[in-house]
Amino acid sequence: MEFRCLSTTLSDAGALPEAWQGDSLAVGLFSDPNHPLWAQITALLGPKLPALLEQCRFKGKPGDSLTVQQLETRPSTVILVGLGEAAGFDSAALRNAAASCAKAAASAGSRSLALALPWQGLDPQAAAATMAEAVRLGLYVDLRFRSEHEAKPVPELVTLLGLPEPSQLPLQSIDAVCAGVELARQLVAAPPNLLTPGDMASTAATIATDFGLDLKVLERSDCEALGMGAYLAVAQGSELPPKFIHLTYRPSEAATRRVALVGKGLTFDSGGYNLKVAGSQIDKMKYDMGGSAAVLGALRAIAQIRPAGVEVHAIVASCENMISGGAVHPGDILTASNGKTIEINNTDAEGRLTLADALVYAAKLELDAIVDLATLTGACVIALGEEIAGLWSSSDGLAAALVAAAEAGDEALWRMPLRSSYKEGIKSQLADLKNTGPRPGGSITAALFLQDFVPKELAWAHLDIAGTVWSEKARGQDPAGATGFGVRTLVNWISAGAPS
Ligand code: BES
Ligand code: MN
Ligand code: ZN
Repeated sequence: MEFRCLSTTLSDAGALPEAWQGDSLAVGLFSDPNHPLWAQITALLGPKLPALLEQCRFKGKPGDSLTVQQLETRPSTVILVGLGEAAGFDSAALRNAAASCAKAAASAGSRSLALALPWQGLDPQAAAATMAEAVRLGLYVDLRFRSEHEAKPVPELVTLLGLPEPSQLPLQSIDAVCAGVELARQLVAAPPNLLTPGDMASTAATIATDFGLDLKVLERSDCEALGMGAYLAVAQGSELPPKFIHLTYRPSEAATRRVALVGKGLTFDSGGYNLKVAGSQIDKMKYDMGGSAAVLGALRAIAQIRPAGVEVHAIVASCENMISGGAVHPGDILTASNGKTIEINNTDAEGRLTLADALVYAAKLELDAIVDLATLTGACVIALGEEIAGLWSSSDGLAAALVAAAEAGDEALWRMPLRSSYKEGIKSQLADLKNTGPRPGGSITAALFLQDFVPKELAWAHLDIAGTVWSEKARGQDPAGATGFGVRTLVNWISAGAPS
């Protein structure tokens, strides 16, 4: 798929720019019928348009979409999508509109599509990138597991109208970000029999070879030598060997910032002896490696973009949480790699155990900041739903930078409290701490547990993406299923110099 920009718009007479010769045109319309775009599109489509819009109940609301196909005219396909009220139109609305245009165009069999969408109030470069990403990510399909995989054709050329010329689309970084999101979606959607900890390590190895990154994979014995008792306790019930992945991007010139991205990498979470019951989404727990998928997707994008000045470490303590005669018991006490002892009062709170050793390992790398991403708690899904990830941070600067990075990619984060009095909930009678507290505030005690494994002076943030990593229904540019959440936030944060 190729992207281009043309500065010309649909003129007041509704004529199409001469320079554009494609077959399909998609136009966004605000719900206010007095908006000048309505006159332009009526001039283009002729006086019968109002009756057709009436018949199809197209009112310009978000989600409204109408495709008109005529044989003799150019363009032969005209797609109208609703944008809602002009006052509330923002980057996220533009992204959704561009994705619906792309989907309608693909359904209509378009090969060459022009998008005429407004971007008032937004930076033109950013608006162009948003539209291009939405088109590509909106047309993503995953046919890997079908016996017949014939993909529907998608537009080969996409022209964005009305952007200032010479508008240099940042094509390289758009492609890199989309490829990163696509990789994360593929990893999250892959079933647990076909995506094991070993496959996570192979994925990291492929990124390392393709882009010249350094990769270290620690085997079980290496992790034992480092005293990673928390991580290995989770892994011990599985037939599959754990893989501790450390992938590093180094900029071409000297790095002035060094950061780690730590991702939860449970390729399946049965709950262990605190087995997940009906209604607890056990059949979805392949996506419990969503944090590590975001981290690997981001590293792939970063390795392609090659931002200057920032060294980025991706760290994933990958394993499965299973049941067997050798599995960890509820009640076991183990020692993490920083020497802290943990009483496991619930084997289903396994993510924080794997992250504890991953965070201790990361902190030894002399970093400026650590960001971890994890499908950590059902409590976060209850609090924030499917569209917003929880953010906990010891640093106001890092929290603000991550919120800004997320916003720039139309991903939503909401800062949550690291209230230290709640640590009371994870005190153990016997060990230094236990791995779960009371149900109320469960995502907060989970974050407080992680904080115990990060040095106080190090800027650290935790993103609980349990709700956002998967979507029951297709929404905007995201298909039903794996969303690839987190990649754009991480890439934007690193590209901004990873401020904290
Ligand atoms: N992977 C789950 C969290 C999860 C639940 C993600 C639902 C997505 C949807 C995690 O390992 C887990 O099981 N957490 C427990 C913690 C509890 C035992 C304190 C939970 O949230 O129920
Ligand atoms: Mn669990
Ligand atoms: Zn889990």
